[in-house]
Amino acid sequence: MQFRARILGAAAGGGLPQWNCGCENCRLARAGEIPAQTQSSLAVSADGTDWAILNASPDIRAQLATTPELHPTGLREMPLRSVLLTNGDIDHVAGLLTLREMQPFTLFATAGIHEVLAVNPIFAALNPSVVTRAEVALERPAEIAPGLFATLFAVPGKVPLYMEGDEVQTDLVGEQTVGVELRAGDETAFYIPGCAMLNDALRHRLEGAALVFFDGTLWRDDEMVRAGLGQKTGRRMGHMSMSGADGSIAAFEHMKIGRKVFVHMNNTNPVLRPGSEERRAAETAGWTIGQDGMEVTA
Ligand code: MLT
Ligand code: MN
Ligand code: ZN
Repeated sequence: MQFRARILGAAAGGGLPQWNCGCENCRLARAGEIPAQTQSSLAVSADGTDWAILNASPDIRAQLATTPELHPTGLREMPLRSVLLTNGDIDHVAGLLTLREMQPFTLFATAGIHEVLAVNPIFAALNPSVVTRAEVALERPAEIAPGLFATLFAVPGKVPLYMEGDEVQTDLVGEQTVGVELRAGDETAFYIPGCAMLNDALRHRLEGAALVFFDGTLWRDDEMVRAGLGQKTGRRMGHMSMSGADGSIAAFEHMKIGRKVFVHMNNTNPVLRPGSEERRAAETAGWTIGQDGMEVTA
């Protein structure tokens, strides 16, 4: 069995370029000087025929169009068996609206994330008699495509931005932000596009893994503040940064992991510029910077 993973979108919410952003990266991407990246999603398969998509980004229509493995195989036959959500953020759920048109698949998520969809009536566009909504309990494997099993586990994070109240806990551990452990035969991979902190439980779980896709939102916690783009830090958004003493590069430094791939990168992140010093530093530390269309094997 050959586990396959294809990055459909390597960018965080907004994508690269983001529609209203004039930052250096967004300008370079518009000028064609660095590759544009679409929003956060990963396609996975155990048999190369049947696929699951982890997170449905607003760019899913274009992502499917440019991924031959996911093209229709008949008039209304699709290789897509399921969509699995890791949180209720707009960059991970808005693409569900593109997947209407009476096409059967199973929508996997925790009860907490299904609840977020249930209170937004627009998602009834996915007719429940056609699209099965399957609740997945934490730590219980679910078969999301033939031979491909996903176990959801809680990672520190927060509720979706549009559900935030006056007080926001940014390192909440529960059903609202999950990581995915994927198993196909004896191969294991992890997909964690949003994570506020690498706690001991998570460190223990990831130790020895062959392949990890991990939250690469920002290079520095105050990157957006310094760029004059707003007041939000990575921490406030529920994302740990790549650099610094409490960043992901340092946190993974002494862990035994076969392949480490950053995904969900914000358009301000300097690693998105192929020639940047930060890109070189991440690569020297053993990380691959995810790119749209990249196929990754363990
Ligand atoms: C995030 O990852 O922090 C969110 O996708 C932000 C957003 O909804 O724009
Ligand atoms: Mn996001
Ligand atoms: Zn930008």
